[in-house]
Amino acid sequence: MAKKIIKRSWAEPFKIKMVEPIKMTTKEHREKVAKIAGYNTFLLKSEDVYIDLLTDSGTNAMSDYQWAGMMLGDEAYAGSRNFYYLWDNVKKYYGMPYLVPTHQGRGAEHLVSKAMIKPGDYIPGNMYFTTTRLHQELAGGTFVDVIIDEAHDSQNRHPFKGNIDLQKLEDLFEKVGGKKVPYVSMAGPVNMAGGQPFSMENLRAVKKLTDKYGVKLWFDATRATENAYYIKTREKGFEEKTIAYILKEMCSYFDGLWVSAKKDLMVNIGGFLATRNKKVFEETRNTVVIYEGLHTYGGLAGRDMEAMARGIEEMVQYDNIRARIGQIEYCGNQLEKYGIPMVYPFGGHAIFLDAKRFLPHLKQDLFPAQTLAAEIYVDSGVRGMERGIVSAGRNPETGKHRYPKLELVRLTFPRRVYTQAHIDVMVESIAQVFEDRKKIKGLKMAYEPKYLRFFQAKFAKL
Ligand code: F0G
Repeated sequence: MAKKIIKRSWAEPFKIKMVEPIKMTTKEHREKVAKIAGYNTFLLKSEDVYIDLLTDSGTNAMSDYQWAGMMLGDEAYAGSRNFYYLWDNVKKYYGMPYLVPTHQGRGAEHLVSKAMIKPGDYIPGNMYFTTTRLHQELAGGTFVDVIIDEAHDSQNRHPFKGNIDLQKLEDLFEKVGGKKVPYVSMAGPVNMAGGQPFSMENLRAVKKLTDKYGVKLWFDATRATENAYYIKTREKGFEEKTIAYILKEMCSYFDGLWVSAKKDLMVNIGGFLATRNKKVFEETRNTVVIYEGLHTYGGLAGRDMEAMARGIEEMVQYDNIRARIGQIEYCGNQLEKYGIPMVYPFGGHAIFLDAKRFLPHLKQDLFPAQTLAAEIYVDSGVRGMERGIVSAGRNPETGKHRYPKLELVRLTFPRRVYTQAHIDVMVESIAQVFEDRKKIKGLKMAYEPKYLRFFQAKFAKL
């Protein structure tokens, strides 16, 4: 008789010590508040939300080790011991000798962009990120997308859709000259592509090419441990390597990096830039004083830096990252059973619904992803976010909408916060909206702010 093989599941490497009640609301109530919020999930009150998948940014559950560290905050204006502990861990885990703390990721993007970009420069990157590109533009630069074409196709199963297209990059260097490119901006995984990683092989090749043209290479390392996990599980030669080892090797190819600590580091606030470039370090250590705070706190409390330092130690633990990605895979597999259109492969921090295929009867001008996010909220109180035409904004030169190929709703998973039962409830709600999709009409924009419009724009039903 053949031996029966019993499946062995993974589970979270932690148990729950403290709980936070969430409010249950009625559909009538949600219809009312969604209208008041202009059908923008960013404008909802959090107490009106049941399962909050708006973002994984600052919404994570800290561990008892991190909370214990919060009590050791040294709130001195200058030279806090928590800063030095954070600095030690940045050296140890990211391998960068210099650190400048900032209040969050965009604070670091601001300082790096200002220090490195001159008006008229070009900054190539593996797809844009909203705040990253805006800071590059505000410093006078022009962002150029050099990600591989596969990344713009939601159904393509390339394992490393975050890779840079070496030909596109070299063409740009040839066209404008290396001197006009202060640095290549490489993120891993790529948020707007659906949480898609780059491979170590691609990174090494990009490094070779940037060296050839004398261009620096900078890393948006906000979710770098997720990228490391994918390298470990998808790339030959890394199966036996630890997350910490892979992270350090990735960082070794970069001149510097910036991090929104609100993701990988599992804290509620914080960010930093770290570099091996003494000139950029000296410049940003000086400008941080103008925009963020003294260079040993950068807009953070000492206790925040302590939680970040401890978060770095936890983020590289394999079981932690395995459980995170496992939860997202579970969600994707459940949605697939109902035939819900999604981005493939499933991403590192979120499931992305493909709104173009979910609502094929809506033209992009009717904001299909914005509409879908609002419909899901009204159905069940589950909050996701638009990542499509609204997020892409307008072209600063022509003033016209940018029309991104990807029109997505992001369901983002805070770390260590929700259970599998929450996911089941959310999956059933999305399946219901999918069932009723033909009745859904689009939206029109009623109010549009000048910068990063997706945060504050308001819409009305057609
Ligand atoms: N880079 C990436 C890849 C990000 O995802 C974010 C933030 C930032 C930089 C900026 O960092 O928010 O700390 O200032 N992403 C959040 C999100 C907002 O929901 O994806 P921040």
